[in-house]
Amino acid sequence: MLSRAWTWVTDRFGLTPIWEVTLGRRVPKTPWYFGDGAALLLLFTVLVATGAVMTLTYAPSPDAAYLSVRHITEEQPLGWLVRALHYWAAGFMVVMLVWHVLRQLLVAGYKSPREGTWLVGVLIFFGIVVMSFTGYLLRWDERAIHAVRVSLHMFHRVPVIGDALVVFVQGGEEAGSRLLTRLYSVHVIFTPLLLYGLLGLHLYLVLFQGTTTPREREEPVATAEEQRALYKAQKDSEALGEPFFPDTAFQSGVMAFTVLALVVGLAVGVGPAPLYPHANLVEPSFPVEEWWFWWYSALIALLPPAVAPWFVVAFPVALFVAMVALPFVDRSPARGMRRRPFAVVFVIAVVAALAGLSGLRLRSPWTAWPDPAPPPVPAGVVLSPEAEEGRHLFARFGCNSCHAVAGQGRQVAVDLARTERRWSRDEYRRFILKPPDDVAMPRYRGRLTEGELERLLDYVHAAQTFPRQARPERPAGGPFNRPPGAGPERPAPGAAEEASK
Ligand code: HEC
Repeated sequence: MLSRAWTWVTDRFGLTPIWEVTLGRRVPKTPWYFGDGAALLLLFTVLVATGAVMTLTYAPSPDAAYLSVRHITEEQPLGWLVRALHYWAAGFMVVMLVWHVLRQLLVAGYKSPREGTWLVGVLIFFGIVVMSFTGYLLRWDERAIHAVRVSLHMFHRVPVIGDALVVFVQGGEEAGSRLLTRLYSVHVIFTPLLLYGLLGLHLYLVLFQGTTTPREREEPVATAEEQRALYKAQKDSEALGEPFFPDTAFQSGVMAFTVLALVVGLAVGVGPAPLYPHANLVEPSFPVEEWWFWWYSALIALLPPAVAPWFVVAFPVALFVAMVALPFVDRSPARGMRRRPFAVVFVIAVVAALAGLSGLRLRSPWTAWPDPAPPPVPAGVVLSPEAEEGRHLFARFGCNSCHAVAGQGRQVAVDLARTERRWSRDEYRRFILKPPDDVAMPRYRGRLTEGELERLLDYVHAAQTFPRQARPERPAGGPFNRPPGAGPERPAPGAAEEASK
């Protein structure tokens, strides 16, 4: 009875031919770590499902966005879990994506006949970068608004069309409600639609062209025909091939569900991304990036200040060009790791660089664009030797990335010579070691020695005795801590109107 019903279903829904070319097909045996693609698919599904649930509540307008995220997190039943799953799945998506791409580099997955699969993959890669970036802007908290500023500034620097691009992205002369609507639309409609199509094509190509096989990594393969012959020989062989379902599917599934288990664990254990205070486009904002951008801000921080802003724009473009060019440039018949030591060294270098830079960022209080010069001492003030030492530490530990002193330096957080509160030394000590959760200041516990902290406190206290002057003419500091276009180079569209308000 059951088997008859099943036959009816497979026949009437046309499942048999699909089964034969998808799950039912034979494939060459592959190692377990080829399951990263399946893991990505599963994460994508989680993201679509949790994202769809959040669109039921999220309101893409500057007044309501932040409160709606708050509502999802704090009031909706299990809303926090939906947000947390979305957040962690997105993070792991980025990690698995990098893994997936690096693995293709190691096994030469981009070589014939799979150049098309690779090129579609490159587009998916950048699509997901767009998703991960637009996603965190939708929270519309301080951190998001800072990222909006940075990216508008990036667009602004694109030669020739920069200004037009900013207007286009903003949907007008000002960064306001239309910008958020656009980000939302890009995040939930345009990019996902593109991704569905591209993913479909990518999977189709995986079925049609197959994946890299163990044997082609051992013997050189010059042409697409050779590869196809090798692929067929392996999948048809009793020893080297296996049915995709259940054998390969089970292996890939184990990896995919392990990743999912990690995501669920972190979502339940750690919860969703923290919400910083509500953003507005007038006040200064605090630069704190998502952990998957850490390596990038560390890299930018290490570059000379004159180069950094250009690098920010040029790097993604260069990466795209390099990835697209790769299968056309590297046409040697060698595949696999043993014959391509360069690929192995390259991948190790990339992983080491990503880990090293992220580690640097984690341990440093940098906020992407550090300023090595300590804040100047106001005229007529003499600092004690201790406070003077503290003034230099203030720059060394990146305090001046955020805090101005007596109107000098970046006005990202409160000017330490103009604070409202006058706390005791102990209160300041506690604050600097562990700022409250809703303050976008790094924790300095474990980063400062006792002596360094004492000198910093000497300086912070000295700063409060500095003469209080009127507002500074213009906030100084790196270009990224100012609203786009407020810099001396070229005024951005809308900057003039904003200033005159
Ligand atoms: C990422 C930016 C950032 C960095 C870096 C940073 N802070 Fe802060 N700091 C803040 C923010 C935000 C506040 C909260 C006050 C506000 O709203 O501006 C704050 C508050 C403070 C306060 C309390 C001020 C008051 O009375 O309200 C002190 C003192 C302080 N920071 C000292 C430091 C010192 C010392 C360092 C370096 C060791 C440092 N901060 C590095 C962002 C930063």
